Amino acid sequence: MKFFIDTANLQEIRESAELGILDGVTTNPTLLSREAGDPFENLKKICEVVSGPVSAEVIATDVKGMVREAHELVRIAENIVIKLPTTKEGVKACKILSSEGVQVNMTLVFSAAQAVLVARAGAAFVSPFVGRIDDVSSDGMRLIEQIVQIYGNYGFETEILVASVRHPMHVVQAALMGADICTIPYKVILQLFKHPLTDVGIERFLSDWKKIRR
Ligand code: E4P
Repeated sequence: MKFFIDTANLQEIRESAELGILDGVTTNPTLLSREAGDPFENLKKICEVVSGPVSAEVIATDVKGMVREAHELVRIAENIVIKLPTTKEGVKACKILSSEGVQVNMTLVFSAAQAVLVARAGAAFVSPFVGRIDDVSSDGMRLIEQIVQIYGNYGFETEILVASVRHPMHVVQAALMGADICTIPYKVILQLFKHPLTDVGIERFLSDWKKIRR
């Protein structure tokens, strides 16, 4: 399973890239709004740090506007992926852009029906939001299970990008289910490393070593 980071913060992206396990970045208007400076300049800087896919979302809600914005965004860098909302207009824009060879990440996916639609429209990535589903007392990971099964049934090539990840168990479950990618906030990436027994184990090894090597 590939690891993307879900942030527009350059420092977090740099630190994750240094870990050697970073395959891509997802941004959205909310994440970009948290950073100082021009959002387009910030996207450009992100694409200089990471060579994998960097998702940039359109603001338009109509097909024409989405396609126009997408054409502007892809000029930022070769690794820009266009993020479109999963609406009727978004799916139409996905079909147009995918046919032109533009990589599209269909976002705000909350049902298996939406996941089927975007795969048929040629999306490179589908982004089901597991955390936001959990937030409304439903089971976000159950949706991932369904999409993995449906895409397997038909050999759809759209990559399943698990989004709205809130804790390490979302990542573990995504891997168990065979999702292609998890996009993870920096805080959760750091949580993945932690285990109290690892810390205790290191402490013990170091103190035992000190007893024999002075
Ligand atoms: C995905 O691409 C989105 O940017 C993100 O995962 C949304 O997460 P949130 O529900 O924590 O805002």
